[in-house]
Amino acid sequence: MLVNLKTVIDIAEKGNFAIPAFNVYNMETVMGALKAAEEMRAPVIMQVYPRLMKEEAGYFLAPVIKAAAEKATVPVCFHLDHGPSELETTRSIRYGATGIMLDGSTLPFEDNIALTKRVVDTCSYLDIQVEGELGHVGTTADSDMDEFTTPEDAKRFVEETGVTCLAVAVGTAHGRYKKPPKLDIERIKEIRKATGNAALVLHGGSGVPDEEIKKAVAAGIRKMNFATDICYAFLDCCLEELQKPDRTVAIDNFMKKPIEAVKDFCITRIKLVGADGRA
Ligand code: 13P
Repeated sequence: MLVNLKTVIDIAEKGNFAIPAFNVYNMETVMGALKAAEEMRAPVIMQVYPRLMKEEAGYFLAPVIKAAAEKATVPVCFHLDHGPSELETTRSIRYGATGIMLDGSTLPFEDNIALTKRVVDTCSYLDIQVEGELGHVGTTADSDMDEFTTPEDAKRFVEETGVTCLAVAVGTAHGRYKKPPKLDIERIKEIRKATGNAALVLHGGSGVPDEEIKKAVAAGIRKMNFATDICYAFLDCCLEELQKPDRTVAIDNFMKKPIEAVKDFCITRIKLVGADGRA
C-alpha cells in the first residue's frame, strides 16, 4: 500500500530498525525493489533523484512507482530524494510523492531552516512529511568530508523546521568509496539525544561496511539510503547478459535477470537494516 513518510518511520521507531530507502530509476529497478519488499515482508521507501522530477522522465516514472506502491501488500512510501527547491518538491507532490526531502544543506544555516520550514508547512496541508538535511553529505569525489552535523545545530533545526526526518553528516558520502568509511557512531547517538529522538537518515549507504551500518541503526538511524549499488547490481547484470551469445533481444525477457539482480541486492539490505518481517 502507498503510505506517507510518517507511517514507515513510525514502524521503524517502534521496532528500533531502519527503513531501507532504495533509489529507483526505471520500471525495472522499481520492480526489483518491490519484489524484494514483498518477499521479505518489509516496509520500504522508493525514492527518486530530483532531476527525474524536472525532466520528462518523472512524468512516466512517477506513475510506475505509484502503481507499484498501490499494488504492494507491504507499506511503500514514494519519496523525493534531495529536492533542492520548491519547484521539485511541488512537482513531486503533484506526481504523487508521499514523502519529500528538501535538501538545503549547502545553504547558510538560517536559509536552510527558512526554506525547509516553508516546505514542511506546505506538505503538512497534504499529510506529507519532510526530510531535511543538516551538515552536508557530499560525494565520494569530494576531497573534504568534514562538515559533520553538530547536536546543537540539529536540535535547533528540528525544533524550528518541524521535519519528520533529519539527514546527518557523520562520515558517509554518495557514490563508490575509495576506502570503506568509518562512521561517527557517537555523534549519531548525541544527535538523537539532543533532538529528542528525531528519526535520523543516513545517506551514502553503498559500500559502507555491514558492521558500520548495523551500529548506525542501533544508534538511531531510521532511514538508510542505497542508490549507487542498485545501479551496479542492475548494470553489471545487463553487461553480463549482453556477453552471452544466446541472449534474447526481446527487452522484456532480457530484463528479467537484471530485475532479479536488483531484487537480490535489495533483500540483502532489507535484512541488514532489520526491516524483514516488519510489515
Ligand atoms: P549511495 O549512492 O552512496 O548509495 O547514496 C544513496 C543516497 O544517499 C541517495 O540520496
